[in-house]
Amino acid sequence: MAQRPIPVLSVTSEIFPLVKTGGLADVAGALPGALADEGVAVTTLVPGYPAVLAALGGARPVLAIADLFGGPARLLRGTASGLDLLALDCPHLYARDGNPYLGPDGRDWPDNALRFAALSAIAASVGRGAVKGYQPKLVHAHDWQAGLTAAYLHHGGPKPPPSVFTVHNLAFQGQFPASLLPVLGLPASGFRFDGFEHHGAIGYLKAGLQLASHVTTVSPTYADEIRTEAGGMGFDGLLRYRGTTMSGILNGIDTTVWNPETDPLIAARFSVAAPAGRKACKAALQQRFGLATDRKTLLFGVVSRLSWQKGLDLLADVLDDVLALGAQLVLLGAGEPALEQRFRQAAASHPGQIGVQIGYDEALAHQIQAGVDALIVPSRFEPCGLTQLCALRYGSVPVVSRVGGLADTVEDGITGVVFDELTADGLRGAVARTAALFATPRRFAALGSAGMGRDVSWRSPARQYADLYRALIATH
Ligand code: ADP
Ligand code: GLC
Repeated sequence: MAQRPIPVLSVTSEIFPLVKTGGLADVAGALPGALADEGVAVTTLVPGYPAVLAALGGARPVLAIADLFGGPARLLRGTASGLDLLALDCPHLYARDGNPYLGPDGRDWPDNALRFAALSAIAASVGRGAVKGYQPKLVHAHDWQAGLTAAYLHHGGPKPPPSVFTVHNLAFQGQFPASLLPVLGLPASGFRFDGFEHHGAIGYLKAGLQLASHVTTVSPTYADEIRTEAGGMGFDGLLRYRGTTMSGILNGIDTTVWNPETDPLIAARFSVAAPAGRKACKAALQQRFGLATDRKTLLFGVVSRLSWQKGLDLLADVLDDVLALGAQLVLLGAGEPALEQRFRQAAASHPGQIGVQIGYDEALAHQIQAGVDALIVPSRFEPCGLTQLCALRYGSVPVVSRVGGLADTVEDGITGVVFDELTADGLRGAVARTAALFATPRRFAALGSAGMGRDVSWRSPARQYADLYRALIATH
C-alpha cells in the first residue's frame, strides 16, 4: 500500500507566480510540485500580500490571532496556481502592493522586523499544531525573512518538530535592534552567540543558521564557499561548526514553465531534435530591440538583478570589447540606479547593437533565453543561479564565472564558457572565447545541444530534500 505523504510546512516571503523578486520565489513555487512526486505534501505559509489574497481560491479561515504585533490577523487556507497555501492575512503588516520588502521610496519598510517576525512566529505555531487538523512533521523555512521560525520553535516549548533552514543568499542577513526583543516575544535567554544574537543585534538569518535542525544552501560549491572566511560573510565559523548538519542541494527550475517545446511566450517553439524555431526567436528578439536582424551576428543576453553580486559592472566595463567583436547585446534588468543608467546610456549610444530594457518582465526573460546565442552571468558570488539553468534548457550558451552554483552547473567547453578571474579582463577573455567558438557554427551548436540535454529539473534535488526530511523525522 502506498504510504501517506509526509506533511511539510514551507515558510517563505515570496512565491512564484504570486510574488517574486528573485530566485527564492521560483524555488518556493516549484519545489512543492516536485516533492509531491517524492511522497511529500507541502503546504506553504506566505504573507497575505494583496497579490496573494487576490489569487487565493477556496480560502477558509483556519486560525484567528487577536493581536499579532499591533493588529489582528488570521490564517487562510486555500490554493493558488496548484499550490496549497496558508496565507497570513494581516492587513497592518502586509496590505501593501508592489515589492514585498521595499516601500514606494525604494527603502526597506520600517517595520520589516515585525513583518517577518510575524511570519516566523505563526510558522512556529502552525509547526506546533495550532491549525486544527493539520500537523506538519517538519518545518522548512527559507532565508532571513523566515529565519526566526527556528527561534520561535526552539523557545516555544518542549519537543518542537524538526526544521530545515535554507539559505539562498548569505548577503541578506536581517539584523534588527536588540530593543525589539520584548516586542517580538522572544526570551532574553536566547539572545546569545549560540542563539539568535548576532554582533549585539537580533539576527534573523543567524537564528535559522544556528537553531534549525539542519541547514541547507542551494549548491554544493556555495556550501563549501560559505564555510571559508572569504565567502562566509561572518558566518563561516558557525557553518563549519555545524559539520554534517549543513549541506548543499542544487536548485532546479520548473521545466514546465521553462519548456522551449511548449512555451507560449516565445516567437517559435523548438527542441534539440527540431532546433529551427530558435532562429525565429533570435530574429524576433533582434527586431524587438531594433538590432540588425542578422543570424550570423553573435547575440549576447543578460537577465538579472543589477547588483554588485551579479558583476554586471564588469560587463559595462567591457562593452567596447563586445562591440569590437561585432557582437550584439540585449539586457533586461533592474536594480542599482547607477548601473541602470550605465546600460541605458550604452543603448542610447549604440542603437542597433545594444538593446536595454530596465524593469522586470517575465515574458521578455523567456524571449531572451530563447533568442540569444549566449547568456552572460559574471557573478562575484552566486549561491545557485537560475538564469544559467534556463539558458541551458533553452539552448543558449551560458558564459559564467566559476563561483557557487554556476561552477556546479556549467561545464567549460562542453555546455558553456566558464572563466576564473573575476575582473573585467577575465570577462573580456570569456567573451572573446565565446566569439571564437561562435565562429565555428558546428562547435557552437554542439554546446547548445549539450546544454539542452542536461537535466535541470527539480527531480533529483526534490529527491534529496525528501531524503533529508525523512532522515530528520526518523531521528527526531
Ligand atoms: P537571484 O535570485 O539572485 O536574483 P537567480 O538567478 O536565482 O538570481 O533568479 C533570478 C530569477 O529572476 C530568474 O527566474 C530570472 O529569470 C528572474 N529575473 C531576474 N531579473 C529579471 C527581470 N529583470 N525580469 C524578469 N525576470 C527576471
Ligand atoms: C538567491 C541567490 C541565487 C539563487 C536563488 C534561489 O536569490 O542569489 O543564486 O539561485 O536565491 O535559491
